[in-house]
Amino acid sequence: MTDRRRTWDERYAAEERVWSAGPNREVETIVGPLPPGRALDLGAGEGRHAIWLAQAGWTVTAVDFSSVGIARGEAEARRQGVDSAIEWVVDDVTRWEPPAGTLFDLVLVAYLHLPEDVLSRATRWLAPEGAIVVVGHALRNLTEGVGGPQDPAILNTVEQLHAAARDLELERCEEVIRPTEAGDAIDVVLVARRPADA
Ligand SMILES: C[S@@+](CC[C@H](N)C(=O)[O-])C[C@H]1O[C@@H](n2cnc3c(N)ncnc32)[C@H](O)[C@@H]1O
Repeated sequence: MTDRRRTWDERYAAEERVWSAGPNREVETIVGPLPPGRALDLGAGEGRHAIWLAQAGWTVTAVDFSSVGIARGEAEARRQGVDSAIEWVVDDVTRWEPPAGTLFDLVLVAYLHLPEDVLSRATRWLAPEGAIVVVGHALRNLTEGVGGPQDPAILNTVEQLHAAARDLELERCEEVIRPTEAGDAIDVVLVARRPADA
């Protein structure tokens, strides 16, 4: 087991709930209006987005390398009666691949921060007209915002997200302010679609 994976397992084990029960506000605003289809939630954590998507009619694959986080998501999905709509996968997203031929109408990447380029890989798994939605902490948050990871190597800029979506149709690529009790956090948001004929 890698150190990073153990750290996340320990974090989930130490707290009853690490993230909010419902979806992140920006994710809700962007994804809420989309027609349900097949979704991939990369770095799904305790499954707040996977469960919310399943409740909205999506069929979801939720991948995270923390077995503790995934187990919590599975238990909550059972409680909510949406477990049959979610496939839970314990694996490392830097090497996990969907089954051959599987494409997604939505790839969601929420607050997953890695030195590896997971986004460029994930764009290959989009169905025609499928959307990749990324919401995460901005690099600028380190110096001008509050909270979030403190390692500049894993934080994103608008330019990096733009580059990861170079083969897609860009709908949004920008910083947004997320007010918190500790002050304003600076997030980055990407919404991009695979062209219908690509
Ligand atoms: C900040 S949490 C966000 C969880 C979820 N996306 C959400 O918004 O509630 C980051 C998650 O990424 C997962 N993670 C980090 N690196 C990973 C990797 N290489 N493979 C799979 N999951 C990873 C962690 O276990 C953790 O659950």
